[in-house]
Amino acid sequence: MTYTTKIYLPDKEKFKAYIDEIYESRCLTNNGPLVQRLEKKLEAYFGVKNLLCISNGTDALQLAYRLLEVEGEVVTTPFSFVSTTSAIVVEGLMPVFADIDMDSYNIDPENIVSVITDKTCAIAPCHVFGNACKIDAIDEIAKRYNLKVIYDASHAFDVKYKGQHILNYGDMSIISFHATKLFHTIEGAAIVIKDDVLYEKAKIVRNCGIDGPDSVAMLGVNARMNEVEAAMGLCMIDEEDIIQKERKASHEFYTRKLRGYVQLQKKNEDATQSYTYFPVVFKSEDEMNRVREALLGKDIAARQYFKPSLDTLPFVEDQNVMVKSRDISSRILVVPMHSGVEPLVSEIIIATLKEMRSPEYS
Ligand SMILES: Cc1ncc(COP(=O)(O)O)c(C=O)c1O
Repeated sequence: MTYTTKIYLPDKEKFKAYIDEIYESRCLTNNGPLVQRLEKKLEAYFGVKNLLCISNGTDALQLAYRLLEVEGEVVTTPFSFVSTTSAIVVEGLMPVFADIDMDSYNIDPENIVSVITDKTCAIAPCHVFGNACKIDAIDEIAKRYNLKVIYDASHAFDVKYKGQHILNYGDMSIISFHATKLFHTIEGAAIVIKDDVLYEKAKIVRNCGIDGPDSVAMLGVNARMNEVEAAMGLCMIDEEDIIQKERKASHEFYTRKLRGYVQLQKKNEDATQSYTYFPVVFKSEDEMNRVREALLGKDIAARQYFKPSLDTLPFVEDQNVMVKSRDISSRILVVPMHSGVEPLVSEIIIATLKEMRSPEYS
């Protein structure tokens, strides 16, 4: 079976050399030398400061709210992975959804303003599929209403906005390094923190609140990355150029073949193009289902990212129906960008749509 994502494994010999280092140092975790090396490498790669490696993206989001010590409502997108919402709920805050833009699939700044109340403390957008949000507009709203901004940049490893890496924006930005991502550390993530004092605090909170051999300074969590994960990251970073070149070729192929048949995500022109995912939106749910079945018939399992729309999650309080997010969610498929399946996937999509859109089809 060919799935939407395929896990990339870097050079085995290089990975083994890092494992030898781990056996020599006998350090497996607790802010070990490889984690520290990876943090420095990633800071240089992204051109950011105050980057910390974290156990996973979900923990990184939770850590962000914990650090800010905010209370009340967080305005967020209904179209993302579940953790963008669940982290808010787990930290005792209330997610309030602002619907997306139908072309970019990102939170629409105009909808953010309409749900801000005197209880709103933060805005939590996601650069979905690596497509940069309208960062300037969001920042302007945050300043006007005195709100914090936490960006979920989990899909945006390869993205710059107005010349700077996208992790430079917001009070904090997080990025997941889950095994399925463009860059991964098996499980893992990073958080980039604008404020130097909060950055120092984050090191303590990430380590169960411990600030010395016999001292616990505050309530913390265990959000540590381990040394084996960091070793994987150090290998992956050396091969990023190869991975991104392959994705770019795949992305360009799909764009050429499918333009005109399906809706393609409209990119933010102030940002560089991400080649991480290739989402296609069909005219109807029926079309999406027929294409998905036709692909399955050839052992290709394209995922319906993101479903469910997050306003339908069982643990969020009832609020306005996110009509646009639910609509896109019901008609979207993210197609595989690996293993040379792109020509077959394109062929199946086009043939199925031609058949369904022909006058004989009823
Ligand atoms: C947009 C987004 N946010 C958060 C996460 C959570 O990251 P993790 O799986 O590392 O906890 C993911 C993971 O896939 C994601 O896609």
